[in-house]
Amino acid sequence: MGDNSAKLNFGGQETDYKVLSGSVGPEVIDIRKLYANTGAFTYDPGFTSTASCESKLTYIDGDQGILLHRGYPIDQLAEQSSFMEVAYLLLRGELPGKSELESFTRTISRHTMLNEQLSTFYRGFRRDAHPMAIMCGVVGALSAFYHDSTDINDPYQRMVASHRLIAKMPTIAAMAYKYSVGQPFVYPRNDLSYTGNFLRMTFSVPAEDYVVDPVIEDAMDKIFILHADHEQNASTSTVRLAGSSGANPFACIAAGIACLWGPAHGGANEAALNMLREIGTVDRIPEYIARAKNKDDPFRLMGFGHRVYKNYDPRAKVMQKTANEVLERLGVKDPVFDVARELEQIALNDPYFVEKKLYPNVDFYSGVILSAIGFPTTMFTVLFALARTVGWVAQWNEMISDPEQKIGRPRQLYTGPTARDYVDVDKR
Ligand code: ACO
Repeated sequence: MGDNSAKLNFGGQETDYKVLSGSVGPEVIDIRKLYANTGAFTYDPGFTSTASCESKLTYIDGDQGILLHRGYPIDQLAEQSSFMEVAYLLLRGELPGKSELESFTRTISRHTMLNEQLSTFYRGFRRDAHPMAIMCGVVGALSAFYHDSTDINDPYQRMVASHRLIAKMPTIAAMAYKYSVGQPFVYPRNDLSYTGNFLRMTFSVPAEDYVVDPVIEDAMDKIFILHADHEQNASTSTVRLAGSSGANPFACIAAGIACLWGPAHGGANEAALNMLREIGTVDRIPEYIARAKNKDDPFRLMGFGHRVYKNYDPRAKVMQKTANEVLERLGVKDPVFDVARELEQIALNDPYFVEKKLYPNVDFYSGVILSAIGFPTTMFTVLFALARTVGWVAQWNEMISDPEQKIGRPRQLYTGPTARDYVDVDKR
């Protein structure tokens, strides 16, 4: 083994491990032979030091605050491209040419309808069900409706399933919303953009015409771009782990949705807005900053801090600008936005947050925008799931096509009882 190796001294024996280099980013010590060589495992809860796969999709430099999709910086994609372009880029590896983009957009729009039987599925839910509960159920149920795209070994079926998931997610999400407010479902319109169609399915009613506001459509499209993919985060890893057993794509994406629901992940935008509303006015900010710093208080500043970014989340910058545009367009004077801006300034200058490198993340401003557009907080994570479906399916496809792919099976550090004999119940 050459210089590019790492040596481990363990159990009186020295073993060598190859060091792999990506195109950019930290070097990676290949420990696949570690157990065979030494009989030992590694311990890494939360996988903070473990690369679970090789990927060509997304690169994050958390210290610099950089996020690239297939090499393109997220701010350029958000400012200059469209969600359909980013979806194509993530799935196919390159930005589409004009006719490729038209053809891809047309293909996606031809899959926007749901099997009609699925609308009766919704009616089994309580009206006050959380829309994420509905999303988990309905997306999982897609595998019962689209049997012709569940053979994961057939690349064509994988592509059709990917298109279906991206196309149907806005319809499913809008229907979850309509169901919760007791309004009729609105069928998709394929002459509208991906995002415009989603806004119409969500906010139009049969009693009135609905015109998509281009400023809101643009803001929503940006929000979708900003959430499209984020490397091996918890929900994406969940999709990959579920998929590693050969499960069908609809089931895998349903697993991703379940993981995304948690407040430490996709649920954070809902939690961030709830927190901003609870703070309510600028004068109450110091009280909440003090609580966030108090080790005996479980309160955390939601929308602050990130497992990977130890710098300003590049998505948060675009989000802040978009929030300004949307509030101005809608003429909304939301005190919550003032609280957010002031809280950000105070936290960015407070030694506690500075030392721990806690910066606003993508969720800090997204809730303010979504609420101004008219979404209830329970829909926030649903919108995240809608956008992230693009990343999930791209990552899932990459995994299935990877010859190194194996069923995921982590090891453990066992600290439970050692072997002992069973004692009959009346002798215990
Ligand atoms: N408010 C106050 N203190 C915080 C916060 C916060 N938001 N985030 C982290 N800290 C503190 C922790 O208490 C810890 O302090 P200590 O070292 O004195 O024990 C230190 O900063 C490091 O925190 P960890 O939880 O170990 O950092 P980790 O990288 O594991 O966690 C996480 C990241 C879960 C996102 C965390 O910052 C958090 O809970 N933030 C609020 C929830 C949130 O906004 N999540 C959205 C993530 S983005 C997304 O999913 C799209």
